[in-house]
Formats: sequence, C-alpha cells, structure tokens
Amino acid sequence: GDSNNTLKAVASFPIGASINPQLLASNARYKAVLQENYNSISTENCAKMNRIQPKAGQFIWTDTDALVNFAKQSNMKVHGHTLIWHVAVPDWVTNFQGDSLAWEKLMKTHIQTVVGRYKGKIKSWDVVNEAFEDDGTYRKSVWYQHLGSDYVARCFQYAHEADPEALLFYNEFVNGRPKKQAAVLALLNDLKKRNIPINGIGVQMHITINTPEASILSEIRQYANTGLLVHLSELDIRMNPTLSKTFVVTDALKSAHALKYKTVAQIYRSVVTSGQQFGITNWNLGDADSYLRTANTCEDHPLLFDETYNRKLSYYGFIQGLSE
Ligand code: G3I
Repeated sequence: GDSNNTLKAVASFPIGASINPQLLASNARYKAVLQENYNSISTENCAKMNRIQPKAGQFIWTDTDALVNFAKQSNMKVHGHTLIWHVAVPDWVTNFQGDSLAWEKLMKTHIQTVVGRYKGKIKSWDVVNEAFEDDGTYRKSVWYQHLGSDYVARCFQYAHEADPEALLFYNEFVNGRPKKQAAVLALLNDLKKRNIPINGIGVQMHITINTPEASILSEIRQYANTGLLVHLSELDIRMNPTLSKTFVVTDALKSAHALKYKTVAQIYRSVVTSGQQFGITNWNLGDADSYLRTANTCEDHPLLFDETYNRKLSYYGFIQGLSE
C-alpha cells in the first residue's frame, strides 16, 4: 500500500482497531495491514473478566501480554476493553456467594489487579461498559444488584488508584435511544461534579447505512458538550440492517457504506474539539473477523477491509472523511 495514504497517516488523532491475538499470531497479512493503517489497538475480548480472570484469583495474561508487546514493537498504543461489563461475567462471579463487602472486594481486586499489571503500558481503559438499559434505568447486572448504582463511580476510583496516569472511559452503546442517552449524560455530569476520576466517554457507534446523520451528529455533540474526551470506540457500519437472508451487495450499497464512513469521520472532526479527540476505533479489521458474522446468522460487510484485507470503497470514504 501507499504509506502516505493510510488511515493513520491522514488522521489528526489516533486510529484504532479491536484486535484478536490469535489472528495476529497466525495471519501475516492481518498483522501487516494493521501495522500499516493503525496506531492504536483495542483488546476485543482478551481483557474481559471472563477471559482474564476465568476462575477466582486465576489471571490469564498471555493474550493481553501478546497485544501489549506487539503494540510496543509496532509503535501503537493499547486501549484496554473492558474492566466491568454485565456480559463478560465469569461463572464463578455469577455463582459467587457473599455480602456486599465481599462483592466490593471481588470487584476492586479484579480492577486493581488488571490495571496494576498493565500500569504504564495500557494507558487508557473502558472501566465500565453498558451500565444502562434502553429505558435509561440501570441494568440489573450482578454489580448493580449487589453494590447499587454507585458501583460505577467506585470502579473509576479503584482503576485510578491502580494507575493514576491512565485515562478512564465510560463506554456505551446508544444510537437512537434518547432515554439511555439522557441517563449516560446524567451519569457523566454527576461523576464530574463529584470529582470522580473519569476522563472520557466511549461512543460505540455500531451503526448501519440507514442510521440518520442527524442522530449521529446530535449524539456526538451532546457528549462533546460534557468537555470529556470522546472516543468513537467500536465503529462498524452494517450494510444489511434488516438482517436479510438473501442479502446481495450492490454498487449502490457500497457507495452508501463509504459515504456513511465519511460522514461519521466528518461529524467527529467538526463537533469534537481537537483537545477532546481521543480517536476513532474500528470494531475488527476485516469483514471476515467482524463479530457480526458470528452474532448474526446473515451476511454483512461492515468494515473497511474485505475478507483478505484488501481496502474497500468504505476505506476510501473514511480516508476522505478523515482528511478533507
Ligand atoms: O473463542 C471461543 C471459541 O473457542 C468457541 O468455540 C466459541 C463458541 O461459542 O466461542 C468463542 O468465543 C466467542 C468470542 O466472541 C470469540 O469469537 C464468544 O462465544 C462470543 O461471546 C464472543 O463475542 C464477543 C462479544 O463482544 C461478547 O464478549 C465478540 O467477539 C466481541 O466483538 C463483542 O464485542 C462487544 C464489546 O465488547 C462491547 N460492545 C458491543 C460489542 C459487540 O457485541
């Protein structure tokens, strides 16, 4: 490829991808395309609690260490995803019996062991992921049930104690859910008011070619207005929003897809001040790696690179949005 015309070369902020250490170790092209285009990686799954502490007190560092070492050699930064998330709860935690003090200790130990191990190496973290339901109420996760809603604030405090230099994010999926958006903004403002150490908001951006530009704009603007860092943390754009089983990619769909990538980049650059631009991260590298391929049972092509990591029209659309 042309090194003057890569994602990281044209962008004025970090460009990341969520990465799978097995693919990185086994596929030379995956590695080369990642190094050519990106200067940040997010840990897609390997730092989640169910992977990194699958049994009580038994921490498995291998995969996250591999990503940290790769990033160091490749001059990239690592964004840690994610310390506390209701989906990534290992069985031993689901089945844990204890009073609220014991739950607090379990949560604190997890956060501080993981953040502490990567102190100075993983310089930013999604501390809490997706704490709210669509209706704006707190999810009834094990953390909420045993510790109440203020567990979120304490997660940030524990992470900050373990690495005072790390940038700490609340990460959420909102698009088109106004009650959830309001709850997230209220949380962010409350944490700031109380001087809880939060640095940024992760805006996931799992969207589709049909997601209205106005809704993307208003969501990002509201986050930018908090003054926090804004990370588009999990960008992918579905081409097959209706999950059609007979989906066929057409030139018109490819153009719409490229245009939406361009629009997202332009909105980010126009609405988020340069001091708040933490970066944009794609959720996976090539279409074959997308979580949508396994999560949904239909075809989709949500990313910038095809199955063998060739640049798609969407790649050039995103480049335009990052540079024009
Ligand atoms: O690796 C195992 C494999 O050994 C096993 O045979 C197979 C059978 O189910 O499962 C494989 O693990 C799966 C893993 O992805 C790797 O493919 C898990 O079941 C599956 O749950 C896991 O899905 C991940 C999902 O989060 C849940 O943790 C996706 O890869 C990951 O992209 C997705 O990412 C989330 C973010 O963390 C938060 N925001 C939404 C985003 C998309 O759902």
